[in-house]
Formats: sequence, structure tokens, C-alpha cells
Amino acid sequence: MESIYLVGFMGSGKSTIGKQLAKKLNLLYIDMDEQIEQTTKKQIKTIFAEEGEQAFRDIEHKILTETPKQGYVVSTGGGIIERKENRQWLLNKQVVYLNTSWDTIKNRLAHDQSRPIWQDQSKDKQLLMQSRDPKYREIAKIIVNTDQRSIDQIVAEINLHL
Ligand code: S3P
Repeated sequence: MESIYLVGFMGSGKSTIGKQLAKKLNLLYIDMDEQIEQTTKKQIKTIFAEEGEQAFRDIEHKILTETPKQGYVVSTGGGIIERKENRQWLLNKQVVYLNTSWDTIKNRLAHDQSRPIWQDQSKDKQLLMQSRDPKYREIAKIIVNTDQRSIDQIVAEINLHL
């Protein structure tokens, strides 16, 4: 089976859903953020702090293009759609957009300290989410609303549309 890529904003549930979806479909699972940390032997927040966002995006791009074409569910980072070359690479793949409301995201990430973009006080995160939405849609084959739905329900809906 062709690999499935989960996209969506930080806190939309890509990792949680990805693991369950992989289990259900009997596929392997990759979390791109974890892959980046293992490859660089650095935490994402350290990469941002020491090398900056663009260096992180370079690594992210390389990791994306190295993901196996078959047999995996891949959870991407929320900013994967920021680079046009990533959107182009994902365009003909099985991409699922987890669409989550701002209120849900805000509540889920209220105490999060691991995400540098979320921590960046100079950034309006709600605006960032709005500006990313069309980019997720541009590449998505399946769009699933995740608000007020259980993990099982979301996984079942994705499965229904594959
Ligand atoms: C980012 C999202 C993070 C991680 C990095 C940048 C972003 O992934 O890749 O902190 O730009 O939205 P999650 O979406 O898994 O939090």
C-alpha cells in the first residue's frame, strides 16, 4: 500500500492518529519530528535555537523526501507545507489533512513548551494557522474534521476514504 501522509497544524493529533491508523491498516509508522531528532541527535527546539528555522526546514525537507513510498503512515510536522517543494513532493501522495479548530488547538497546547513556533511570542499563531489552511488543502486528498471526535472515529473516517 502507498504510504499515507498526515498533515495539519501543531496539536491537530497527527502523531496520535498516525499511530492508530498504522495499527489499523497494518502499516509501519514514522513520526517525522522524531526522525529529525534521531538523525540530528538534537531536540527540535535546540535546532531552532542554534541554527534557526531555515536550517530546520532544510533538514525537514530532506527527511520528507527520504520517507518510504510504500507501507508507512507518516506524521509530518505542522510546517511541512511552508516550502513549495514539499507541497509539490506531497501533491501526488496519499495526504490526509487533520482539520482542527483554533479553540481545540489552543487548549491542547496551552502548556506545551516543546514547540518553538508555538513559543514564539512575536508570531500570531491563529493567523499562522489561517494562512497555512489553504496550503494543507492544496495537497490533501482527504480532509477530516477532528473536533469533538474520538481517535477511533477519526481513524475510521480516514479508512473509509482511502
Ligand atoms: C512546526 C511543527 C512541529 C515541528 C516544529 C515546527 C511548525 O511539529 O515540526 O516545531 O512549523 O508548525 P508538530 O506539528 O508535530 O507539532
